[in-house]
Amino acid sequence: MPSLRLVDVLLERRILVCVGSGGVGKTTTAATLGLAAARRGKRTLVLTIDPARRLANSLGLASLGHAVQEVDRALVRRGAPNANGELHAMMLDQKQAFDEVVAKHAKDPAAVQRILANPVYAQISGSLAGAQEYAAMAKLHDFDQSGVYDLIIVDTPPTAHALDFLDAPRKLSEAIDSPAIDWFRKLQGEGGSRWSLVGKSGAFVIKRLAKFVGSKFIDDLGVFFTEFNDILGGFRQRAEETFALLRQPRVGFLLVASPEPMAVREALAFHERLKSAGMPFVGFVVNKVHPTRPMAKPRTVEPALASQPSIVALGLSGTTRTMAAEALIAAHAELETLAAADQEAVARLRAAGGTEASFVEVPLQRDDVHDVDRLVALEHFLLA
Ligand SMILES: Nc1ncnc2c1ncn2[C@@H]1O[C@H](COP(=O)(O)OP(=O)(O)OP(=O)(O)O)[C@@H](O)[C@H]1O
Ligand SMILES: [Mg+2]
Repeated sequence: MPSLRLVDVLLERRILVCVGSGGVGKTTTAATLGLAAARRGKRTLVLTIDPARRLANSLGLASLGHAVQEVDRALVRRGAPNANGELHAMMLDQKQAFDEVVAKHAKDPAAVQRILANPVYAQISGSLAGAQEYAAMAKLHDFDQSGVYDLIIVDTPPTAHALDFLDAPRKLSEAIDSPAIDWFRKLQGEGGSRWSLVGKSGAFVIKRLAKFVGSKFIDDLGVFFTEFNDILGGFRQRAEETFALLRQPRVGFLLVASPEPMAVREALAFHERLKSAGMPFVGFVVNKVHPTRPMAKPRTVEPALASQPSIVALGLSGTTRTMAAEALIAAHAELETLAAADQEAVARLRAAGGTEASFVEVPLQRDDVHDVDRLVALEHFLLA
């Protein structure tokens, strides 16, 4: 079977998720691919969960937040193969996304207000294991269902555990079903006094606890868990359904890596993990690869270099010119060594990806990639 081409992935899949370890170029890749798809006529959304401003900067947006913004159409369509596409971007605010989940599943608008205003909620929504990932997935799910976009590209955050979201449904249900939460739920359970429901020892604990945190806080806790029951009921099932979206064949996981040993190790581990979780892996992007630049043998280079008009114009002595040429040759040799090491890393990743996956190398650029022109320049490598 011939290997997948990234351009076909871009034109045929509906959701593309860029994952990889910190700093390898996930945001840059997501932005480049988003732009490339828009320039081929797709209505594209780049959804970033990375709080850094890099995506906004690269796309020429002054700021980016939880509201979808369109990137300047003229900029996107300039010299494009198809001038009908659009590029939209959004930086997901996980707290807001979680509030939206609450609003969607609470029993009525008044309950939404009560839950959001409860001081315990602020704490819980920020620290419940897996909740952030679930909220992000729920947002992705909504965008997908809306049918507004032909393609959604997800840029994942710079975390040490790039595949945390694979464990999120399990963590979430473990957190929700924890004895502590169950206990607080009983505290305000219907049809009985809270003291009788938690039993004698529970009542004792509550009294002691109230001494430290105040009885208002204890009441807030109880009220919160009762209200939140509507949200928690079915939470696990909804989370599992939401995450199941990721396994569909319309989705593609693109693993971004760099040739550095640590990044290669992590990419290989991520790849294994994606495969064992049954996620639709589509390929590797190896970014920031030192290019090999064939150069003539030093002995022929040195005189040629020394006689370059620009060097001669400096009026340097013959010895200084020779020293400059030697330094240049040494620097080049160093780059060649780096390039050779990178090629070994590339070969390892290529072998791991297998023959069906797509595989692209993007050379290390001279400068940071921080505007639309530079993104368009990278497109050439990604879609080659
Ligand atoms: N091919 C490249 N050549 C040179 N610089 C690059 C290249 N690709 C990305 N960069 C630069 O590397 C830095 C990190 O890139 P980027 O922000 O895309 O990585 P990331 O994986 O999203 O990082 P994080 O894990 O922090 O979110 C940026 O300054 C970006 O401009
Ligand atoms: Mg990033």
